[in-house]
Order: sequence, then C-alpha cells, then structure tokens
Amino acid sequence: MHEDIAKVLLDAHTIQRRVRELGEQLSRDYADKNPVLICILKGAAIFMADLVRHISVPVRMDFMAISSYGSGVRTSGVVRILKDLDSSIERQHVLIVEDIVDSGLTLSYLLDNLQSRQPASLRACVLLDKPGQRRVPLKADYVGFEIPDEFVVGYGLDYAENYRHLPYIGVLKAEVYENARK
Ligand code: IMP
Repeated sequence: MHEDIAKVLLDAHTIQRRVRELGEQLSRDYADKNPVLICILKGAAIFMADLVRHISVPVRMDFMAISSYGSGVRTSGVVRILKDLDSSIERQHVLIVEDIVDSGLTLSYLLDNLQSRQPASLRACVLLDKPGQRRVPLKADYVGFEIPDEFVVGYGLDYAENYRHLPYIGVLKAEVYENARK
C-alpha cells in the first residue's frame, strides 16, 4: 500500500467486479440505443476505460474536461469547461460517466449544461457516491458504490494530480493535505 494512504476502501478486485456489473446493466438498458458515453476528465478516465470493455452493445465515446477542486479537498462550486465535446449530442442518448458525486454541484452543472443541447435522453453513471455531503439534491442513475464522507484517491481520483494510478481506492491520510496547507 502507498505510504500516504490511511486505508484501502475498495480493493482492485471489488472495483472490477462492480464495474463489470454496471457494464452488463448498461448493455441491457442501452441495447439498440447506440449511446454516447461522455467521460468527465480526468477523474473518470480509468473508470470509463474499464466500463466500456464490459459493455457488449455499440457505444461511442466523447470526453469533456472540467475544473473542479484545484489542489484543495472541497469544491468551490464554480465549474469551468476546459475541453468541450467533439460532437453534437442533439437527439443522442447520452450517458455521463463521472468518478464521484460529493456536493453534487459538478454533476448538477453538467446535467443542466448537456440537457440544454437537447439530447434524446440524459443519464449519469458515477463510480462513487458520497451522499452525506450533498448541497444540491441529486441522485445518479447508476452508482458503483456509496462511500462515507472521506477524501479518497486512486483508480483515477487524485489529490493535487497525484495517486490517480493506484489500482484501488483508498482514504488519503489527513496529514497529506494538512501539510500542504502549512
Ligand atoms: P462535487 O461537485 O462536490 O460533487 O464534486 C465532484 C468532483 O470533485 C469530482 O468530479 C471529483 O473530481 C472531486 N472530488 C469529490 N470528492 C473527491 C474525493 O474524495 N477524492 C477526489 N476527488 C473528489
């Protein structure tokens, strides 16, 4: 285990098993719909890569990059699009693939923004849900795991751009971000 990790919350095997289940469920729900899966960079990159390989019906992929936390551990609520979609989603079945919902501000912004582009349908699939921290009422259509209100890293999730490569999801030692504030 990495020295900055206090404990492993979800090991690699547990994540893979759940991602496979989500892929199977999406294959059933989106059969004949040829959906566009929109990966929210960078946090959802690894989840997206694993998820699509468990989907057995045709899908397309697009990518959107947004700013969220910077190097802090709490969201500012201000969302900025750093990279927009390559293609129009008008009349398409759209599934947002996101790493985590915490306050809900980011996903709520994305849903509003993409809805205004008139997709045929719009849903969200998130790997992690921290329901204890909501500032806007919101429930993703597909959720991998509900987790307690702790700052987690790994499997795509970062703290100050580090730890994304870890194959598991772990709780970051508080001293790592407390030291950064000093
Ligand atoms: P929200 O807007 O508060 O729901 O936060 C969503 C975004 O904040 C996610 O896309 C993540 O990038 C980031 N985030 C929230 N919680 C965590 C965490 O525990 N670890 C790493 N990133 C997080």
